[in-house]
Amino acid sequence: MNKNQIYSLWPIYIGEFYNPEHQEIKDDLINFFSEYEKKNPKGREGLNKENINLYESKYDLHHEKSESLSKLFNFFAKCFLGMSNSTNNKFISEMKEPKPNFDVKINNSWFIKYNTNGSVLPHDHGRCSWCCVYYVQIGEDATNENGSTYFLRPYQRRSPEDFGGKFYSSGGNATFKAVEGKMLIWPNFILHGSNPYKGEKNRIIVSANASVDIRN
Ligand SMILES: [Fe+2]
Repeated sequence: MNKNQIYSLWPIYIGEFYNPEHQEIKDDLINFFSEYEKKNPKGREGLNKENINLYESKYDLHHEKSESLSKLFNFFAKCFLGMSNSTNNKFISEMKEPKPNFDVKINNSWFIKYNTNGSVLPHDHGRCSWCCVYYVQIGEDATNENGSTYFLRPYQRRSPEDFGGKFYSSGGNATFKAVEGKMLIWPNFILHGSNPYKGEKNRIIVSANASVDIRN
């Protein structure tokens, strides 16, 4: 006799990684961003309408010359690779020996300096497999509400109102507290944004979009 089943399908993976070198590079990154803003006072042309009360750099930060930025992007590359290896484990295990090597490519990267109450409304990113945010500076007063990053559940339409559908109508967003030196990685199609931060320091982050390909 066939057995009844309930399947759980399509998990969404969000990675959280901590940079052990953060304290070594933090001040240098902040100085670099400050100089960058002086040289490029307008920042990126054509700011997205979802950006509120903030300064955003151009999208090619990974081409800038800075030892601390290079260290940061090396850390990013390791984390993106870890995310790809982990989520694609099934496909990698099915590959013949010798297993291939993979190359991580940073397609775009930028920094954002939020002013008080600055925020970013929900949006998603372009063509890449993984996206990230890295918290360069945030006050100790950051919480799950104050200055956090949120992700919207990928299914939002026609939420049921009866109890039977409670699982699908509750928990429509997941919130992650900002912590200096922490990186969050998520798949490119997930809508996300940042909650306003009220604190004594500016909230400063670096974001990037990455692709991971098999090395030929
Ligand atoms: Fe984003």
